[in-house]
Amino acid sequence: AFKRHVLVAAISGIATAGMALQAHAATEVNLGHTLSSTSHYSVGADAFKETLERLSDGEFTVTEHTSGSLGGEREMIEGLQIGTVDVVITSTGPLGNFVPESYVLDLPFLFENYDQARCVLDSELGDELLEKMGEHDLVGLAWSENGFRHLTNSQREIATPADAEGLRVRTMENAVHQEAFRQMGARPTPMAFPELFTALQQGTVDGQENPITVIVATNFWEVQDYLSLTGHVYSPAIVLGSPILLDGLSDEERGWFMEAAAASAQATREEVSRLEREGVALLEENGMTVKIDIDIAPFQEAVQPAYEIFTSEYGTEMLERVQETA
Ligand code: PAF
Repeated sequence: AFKRHVLVAAISGIATAGMALQAHAATEVNLGHTLSSTSHYSVGADAFKETLERLSDGEFTVTEHTSGSLGGEREMIEGLQIGTVDVVITSTGPLGNFVPESYVLDLPFLFENYDQARCVLDSELGDELLEKMGEHDLVGLAWSENGFRHLTNSQREIATPADAEGLRVRTMENAVHQEAFRQMGARPTPMAFPELFTALQQGTVDGQENPITVIVATNFWEVQDYLSLTGHVYSPAIVLGSPILLDGLSDEERGWFMEAAAASAQATREEVSRLEREGVALLEENGMTVKIDIDIAPFQEAVQPAYEIFTSEYGTEMLERVQETA
C-alpha cells in the first residue's frame, strides 16, 4: 500500500509539474504604440489584450508598451518586419515608406467626415489594402483610427493658408503630407513623434498637426497656444502584426489575432468619437485658443499639387477607387 501511495504521489507530482509547465508556456505578445496610457490607442490596446487573452484562454498574454518606448512608428514597423515587436498600433503616416499603396489614404481632404472614411476602410478595398501588407513583410490585422488632423502652433491664429506662411510645422514622415504643407507655404519638418514635445518646447518647430485625440492625450496645450480646426487630412490607424510571429500560428490562432484587432479598432473608433464630442472644450479649458469656423476651400486649393504629385507617381486608379467607394 505504501508503494502504491508513493507511485500515485509521484504520478500526480509529474502531472502537476506538467500543468505548471503548460501554464508557463503562454506566449508573450509585445504590443507597441506611441501614445500615452490614457490615449485612444491605449483603449484599443486594452481591447486587444482582453480579447486575445480570453479567446486563447491564456495561450497568449499581451504586454502593452506605450509612449514610443519601443521607438517611433517607422521604427516599430521595421521591428515588426524583423520580429522584435509582435503587434503595433500605428497611424498610416510612415506606412507609405513600406507599403506605397497606402499613401492614397493620406491625401489631404480625401474624406469629408468619419462615416465616409470608415466606410472605405471597412470595404473590400480596405480589405485589399490590409492584404497588401503581406507583400511587404507585415500582417494587416485591422483598420483602426487616429482621426481628422488639425493644426496647432505657438505663434498665431491660423485661419487661411497665408497665415501658415513660413511656419515651421512638424509633419509625420510622410511625403504626401510634407508636400501639402509646402504647398500651403509652411516649412514642413518631418520628425518621429517621440521627439515632438521637446522640439515644440525648445522652439525647434512652431507647430504640429494631429487629431484632437492626440492633442488631448499629449497635453499639447502646455507648449501650443493656438489650435485651428482645419481637418486637413483623415489619419487612419492600423493594427499590424509581425509575420515572424503570425506565420507560425494555426488558422485558429491567427483568427484570434484578427478578432482581437477588430475589437481594438472598434474600441478605438468609439473613443475617437467621444473625444471629437468632448475634446475641444477640454482643450479650451486648458487655455488653447481654438479657431473653429474655418473656410477650408483655400486650404483645399492650396494642397491640389499634392494630388498631382501623388497621381504622377502612383497613377489614378487607387485614388478613383477610394473616391468611388466613399
Ligand atoms: O503625428 C503622428 O506621428 C501620429 O499621428 C501619432 C501621434 C504618432 C499617432 O499615430
